[in-house]
Amino acid sequence: MGQPLSTDTPAKALRIGMVGCGNISAAYLETFPRLDAVALTAVADLDMDRAREVAAAHPGVRALTVDELLADDGVDLVLNLTIPAAHAEIALKALAAGKHVYGEKPLAASAAEGQTMLQAAQDAGLILGSAPDTVLGTGIQTARRAIDDGLIGAPVSATATMVTPGHERWHPNPDFYYVPGGGPLLDMGPYYVSALVTLLGPVTSVLGAASSTRSTRTIGSGPRAGEVIPVSTPTHVTGVLFHASGALSTLVMSFDAVATHAANIEVHGETGSLTVPDPNRFDGEVQLRTLGAEDWEVLPVSAGYAGSSRGSACRIWPKPPQANCRAPAASWGSTCWRSWRQCLPPLSQAARYRCSVPASVPPPSASSSRRVWKRSVPPKPPSSTCRIRPSVYGRYHRSTGKTVIPLALEHLFECPWDNCVIDHPPAHDTALADGRASTDH
Ligand SMILES: NC(=O)c1ccc[n+]([C@@H]2O[C@H](COP(=O)([O-])OP(=O)(O)OC[C@H]3O[C@@H](n4cnc5c(N)ncnc54)[C@H](O)[C@@H]3O)[C@@H](O)[C@H]2O)c1
Repeated sequence: MGQPLSTDTPAKALRIGMVGCGNISAAYLETFPRLDAVALTAVADLDMDRAREVAAAHPGVRALTVDELLADDGVDLVLNLTIPAAHAEIALKALAAGKHVYGEKPLAASAAEGQTMLQAAQDAGLILGSAPDTVLGTGIQTARRAIDDGLIGAPVSATATMVTPGHERWHPNPDFYYVPGGGPLLDMGPYYVSALVTLLGPVTSVLGAASSTRSTRTIGSGPRAGEVIPVSTPTHVTGVLFHASGALSTLVMSFDAVATHAANIEVHGETGSLTVPDPNRFDGEVQLRTLGAEDWEVLPVSAGYAGSSRGSACRIWPKPPQANCRAPAASWGSTCWRSWRQCLPPLSQAARYRCSVPASVPPPSASSSRRVWKRSVPPKPPSSTCRIRPSVYGRYHRSTGKTVIPLALEHLFECPWDNCVIDHPPAHDTALADGRASTDH
């Protein structure tokens, strides 16, 4: 909430004071050097040794106590990376000290705390922001674009499923996941609920049920491995979200299950279904299956910030290996979830890094007609900016022996390819062209 901050030039870099130097701080520390618009100036932690360690590794960054950092004139925004139970306390102190705040998820450990924080920011005229920002990546934004473009018709429902045996297996200090403010709903739910709201609009009411299967957990890694910690919050949560649009989302968030075959998120509409990639990531494949279609199709990236990442658990790729890869220079040397090998067709992946499609993909000849293209010879557009859906290339209808592009998709055609134009079907093909086309191929 609040007005956008001005971070146009390095001279105006937003000065960040980071509170909390634990596990996730590494992701931010890795990302800051790539961003001219921000400058880390100070760090703090209840554990001063952690703050000193970070400061020592980052020239120009000072290790301060929390109170010193909040009072520091060299800090414009407090980055709150503390545990969920401390989010509200730190944020409210920071706002009271006149600092903007951006915090890790969840916004707060309870709805009441969250409301208090929002009100405090509004009263002070300061900006309050919270992770996750993954909804801005190409995965969720491409799914949103598909819904906005009517590819599934009117949205009816969604499912969101996240199951894991628990974070104590890998996190060296997992205590906060198992106390109020933790649990699967407040820990992983923010990714899923943010995505569902991005895709289906605001939620007006909810219902749910929760359970807890074990009263203790055993730490599985780090210096405390083997230590048993108590569980005092639900570890399996199910719920239904009532969207203002009338759509219903069903949610399962669990630290009590081993694995699942369920998609992270599926959205169902009157004429199609979408599978949405992991909302804990910025990218991933969006798949569409329209009514009557024989299979799912992968939608090309059509929206969102390509190559974005919070930076964690990534490998550094110094530069693209291909001369024709036009990945933005800003992402060279940055952290990528995927290797440059994906700077190759298929189009949906090539588009992710804005790579040139190799010249070996021939454009159709001027005389070629979509009507006679067969499934076995998919004429792909030569440009990665072409947004025609793969299933549309050479979409072949057995009953007519023709390939027809549904008029409903006309607005998707924004391709510089000369022949990338709508080939309006003759009258007898109208039934195929008005959206019923997919029922017989
Ligand atoms: N670990 C991850 O992979 C991950 C991923 C995404 C988001 N997050 C979120 O990031 C936040 C931090 O998670 P983490 O894994 O880094 O936890 P962590 O326990 O590793 O680190 C938290 C740090 O905050 C410090 N701290 C706690 N209370 C404080 C206070 N009142 N004042 C100053 N410092 C305080 C702790 O000493 C610790 O160094 C959580 O909200 C979590 O949900 C974590």
